[in-house]
Amino acid sequence: MPEIVTPDQTSANIERAVELLNAGQLIGLPTETVYGLAADANNPVAVAKIFAAKGRPADHPLIVHLGADDLLNNYAREIPEAAWTLAEAFWPGPLTLILKKAPGVPDIVTGGQDTVGVRIPGHPIALALLRAFAEANPGGGGLAAPSANQFGRISPTAAAHVVTELGDAVALVLDGGDCQVGIESTIVDLSRGDPVILRPGAITAAQIELVLGQKLIATSAVVESTGDATPRVSGSLASHYAPLTPLTVLELSEITHPLAAGDCAAIVRDCAELSVGLRQHGHVVILADQPARYAHDFYRVLRELDAKGYRHIYVQNLPDTQAWLAVRDRLSRAAHRESL
Ligand code: TXA
Ligand code: MG
Repeated sequence: MPEIVTPDQTSANIERAVELLNAGQLIGLPTETVYGLAADANNPVAVAKIFAAKGRPADHPLIVHLGADDLLNNYAREIPEAAWTLAEAFWPGPLTLILKKAPGVPDIVTGGQDTVGVRIPGHPIALALLRAFAEANPGGGGLAAPSANQFGRISPTAAAHVVTELGDAVALVLDGGDCQVGIESTIVDLSRGDPVILRPGAITAAQIELVLGQKLIATSAVVESTGDATPRVSGSLASHYAPLTPLTVLELSEITHPLAAGDCAAIVRDCAELSVGLRQHGHVVILADQPARYAHDFYRVLRELDAKGYRHIYVQNLPDTQAWLAVRDRLSRAAHRESL
């Protein structure tokens, strides 16, 4: 099993992580969103190990993580003004930009596409590693890192989850504590003209529109108009992020009845309508009725309930508002287990 380096030892182990990456090995990388499975983005053999470890199809591109925006030119070309504006406003942070790729970026990173996903993560350990790695690798310095889970499963939000998901495939896991955001970054495509959100996240469309001073186009409209059926974003498959236990979304009033049958668990929000019966039920987990706090705990709770071998997990429906959009998106994918 790989070693987990505890938070107080982590900075001392940055150098070791750089050496392992330079030797083509994989590292468990803490970020503010979820843990990543990192390899040298300029080493196709190392990147191939990521696909093998996750069981991820080759046409699902990876995000390149950077320690500073002056490294952007190593991976992207014809960078539009909007990219610098968003970088300035939101990096380091939970935002990924899709840009035209620079000539040297290995095809395996981009799934053979002409574009590349890039972001600067907002986590001190990730930034320390990325900066040390860039110093050792002039002209490159990016780490290709998808979420550190088996393909189609729940993203890891703690160092121990990475070991559970990937075992010996990862050489070392840097423990950065629990991920603050808890769901994957917002992805904005700037490679085809007007910006398009490909995956909702903690940074909302409204925040991006405010910074750019323009309205965004919805993803589905673009997919329809181009008839583009290629899974450009693996998270866009309906059955992504799923637990193994069947999961159904219900209104709060509908949850009590199936729970009474036993062997089932529920996730509800801490709202005024919550009955005393549900509040005190041994198999009910109560999450905050606030999107950022809910997102922080959602994957962890799902993972814990999944491991307990319940027959079914019921989740209280989430409000249909912009603020809840990113969590709603993850919940609806988790509920599509039958189509996996
Ligand atoms: O928060 C995050 O983004 C986390 C942490 C580790 O940074 N990473 C993450 O990676 O969620 P992953 O591989 O699980 O999801 C990245 C998504 C995939 O759905 C992929 O298809 C999309 O980004 N992506 C990457 N490059 C792309 C490109 N060139 N065009 C379109 N989508 C791209
Ligand atoms: Mg993922």
